[in-house]
Amino acid sequence: MAVEIQRTLVLIKPDGVQRELVGDVVTRFERKGLKIVGMKLSHLSEDVLTEHYGHHKEKPFFPGLVAFMRETPVVAVVLEGLGAVDEVRKIVGSTNPLNADAGTIRADFSMSMAGNIVHASDTLENAAIEIARFFKPDEVFSYGKLTDKYHFGA
Ligand code: CMP
Repeated sequence: MAVEIQRTLVLIKPDGVQRELVGDVVTRFERKGLKIVGMKLSHLSEDVLTEHYGHHKEKPFFPGLVAFMRETPVVAVVLEGLGAVDEVRKIVGSTNPLNADAGTIRADFSMSMAGNIVHASDTLENAAIEIARFFKPDEVFSYGKLTDKYHFGA
């Protein structure tokens, strides 16, 4: 089956913001060729986080996870590109940074499960749900590359 253009959601968590890793994280996605079609700082409410992490509600770490995610604003990003859901998860790496492959964001920048820098949607279906959770329709953009018109950097 041909790979399709997809959109997916990334949250750069409070540890990524506090450790001034926003630029490094976003650069990795841009360098891959993924297009930023939405991006904003957002201080997440308890209600939104309870919905977002609802599948972890019974886990012992849930209250700490919600509290941690509310420590500071996060950076929410919508990325677009070929097979974006899986490509982003490859770049992000395994949930536990100690198990993540070298070269991934989590392996390279973290040793903590709670402070694992980023969240990324796990399926195309969840990506659509999560994008709608964090972005209004008019906060996500469609645009083409202007390089041919303006010869950036050439
Ligand atoms: P994320 O991809 O945002 O999805 C759920 C988050 O819960 C996960 O990243 C981790 O940051 C966090 N998490 C998962 N398991 C644990 C755990 N055992 N202890 C603490 N935090 C966890």
